[in-house]
Amino acid sequence: METTKVVLTDHEIPRQWYNIQADLPKPMSPPLHPGTGKPVGPEDLAPIFPMNLIEQEVSRERWIDIPGEVLEKYLIWRPSPLCRARNFEKLLDAPVEIYYKNEGLSPAGSHKPNTAIAQAYYNKAFGVKRLSTETGAGQWGSALAMACRMFGLECRVFMVRVSYAQKPYRRMMMNIWGAECIPSPSDRTESGRQILAVHPDSPGSLGIAISEAVEDAVSRENSRYSLGSVLNHVLLHQTIIGLEAQKQFEKIGIYPDVVIGCAGGGSNFAGIALPFVRDKIHGKQVRIVGAEPTSCPTMTKGPFAYDFGDLAKKTPLLPMYTLGHDFVPAPIHAGGLRYHGMAPIVSHLLREGLIEAEAYDQIETFEAGIRWARTEGFIPAPETNHAIAAVVAEAWRAKEEGKKRTILFNWSGHGLVDQASYDAYLTGKLIPYTLPDEEIQRALKSIESFPKPQA
Ligand SMILES: Cc1ncc(COP(=O)(O)O)c(C=O)c1O
Repeated sequence: METTKVVLTDHEIPRQWYNIQADLPKPMSPPLHPGTGKPVGPEDLAPIFPMNLIEQEVSRERWIDIPGEVLEKYLIWRPSPLCRARNFEKLLDAPVEIYYKNEGLSPAGSHKPNTAIAQAYYNKAFGVKRLSTETGAGQWGSALAMACRMFGLECRVFMVRVSYAQKPYRRMMMNIWGAECIPSPSDRTESGRQILAVHPDSPGSLGIAISEAVEDAVSRENSRYSLGSVLNHVLLHQTIIGLEAQKQFEKIGIYPDVVIGCAGGGSNFAGIALPFVRDKIHGKQVRIVGAEPTSCPTMTKGPFAYDFGDLAKKTPLLPMYTLGHDFVPAPIHAGGLRYHGMAPIVSHLLREGLIEAEAYDQIETFEAGIRWARTEGFIPAPETNHAIAAVVAEAWRAKEEGKKRTILFNWSGHGLVDQASYDAYLTGKLIPYTLPDEEIQRALKSIESFPKPQA
């Protein structure tokens, strides 16, 4: 019998996260304080995050121990299996072997608990009592709701309004885990009220929801903000995915030629990719590809620039590929990929040529997701469908070139509560959406006057 799943025992789970900052050939540009234009120090971030996470954010240590209490919670579903998609391979009939990490097996259904659990743990250890956050599709909000419950913290989630309407079951999951979920923009914060005054029907965006969540956190005692993507410490926690995959490949004596992940803020992509980027830095031949939507083409069309992480300019200026902080993407169904910026680490790697980026229209991503569901059975999240579309494109290239490839990708989450989006696709209601260049130029006006990152 051929191997379809490579599993690790509980005892083989990695005990440390990998920090790529220790191995970067060229250091990253620092985040800047918008007032002074100088690099932000840990104390600037202290009202927003607990100091133990700020230390991780700026750490240059290569390996960071995973605390025992975090490992204990990871073991509920981790190590996640490395699976071979034999049925999908047969359908494609191309010279490819396709392996994937199934992150949809977590209790909340995606990779997001890998950092939600770590962040809840560190906040609790620092004495924080309450977390607030934003969520796009609801995957992150539900993951943090669950993690807060596990560590006895209160949780308030600002959910992008269009997703709140499209995905009521995610809100219900948050409520089951005891969190409060509010559609954003809302009248609970000054940032939300300002948007509503001008755009009463605003579909919302992650940038707006982040402003609301940060404001909510900093205006209360014992409260902090938690972010589900983009930041260095979030990507760090996600490296458990790629580290497990490396151990699993070692067991079967294989090394992938291509590593793929979908990219919203960059965390699941980085989670699977960074340990392989380390190998690439040290001479290994491997291509690493992030897949994003054509409606929010941050890496494929945006410039590398300093920009705010949110609409109300409450975050530091981050060096990243961006479409401008006031960019509000079309209401595509992959809510978790509707973010104007890309993680500074991922942006840096793209700029240094260590990774590549591709963009896919939502129609072809759903086409790929349906093919997957009809062969492998699991129904992917709309975000994950972007990675599957990139796998399909890679398979066609292999066929055209007549060259065999081993592909690894991150199956970042299931779509069991995203049925409405599949229904829209199957009934022909889904529309293609490519962001027009004029719209990008308009959105980028907002960052023209900001400092520019070093070349
Ligand atoms: C299933 C799934 N995949 C991917 C993403 C994109 O986020 P990131 O780029 O941080 O992995 C999300 C975000 O909500 C998600 O829910």
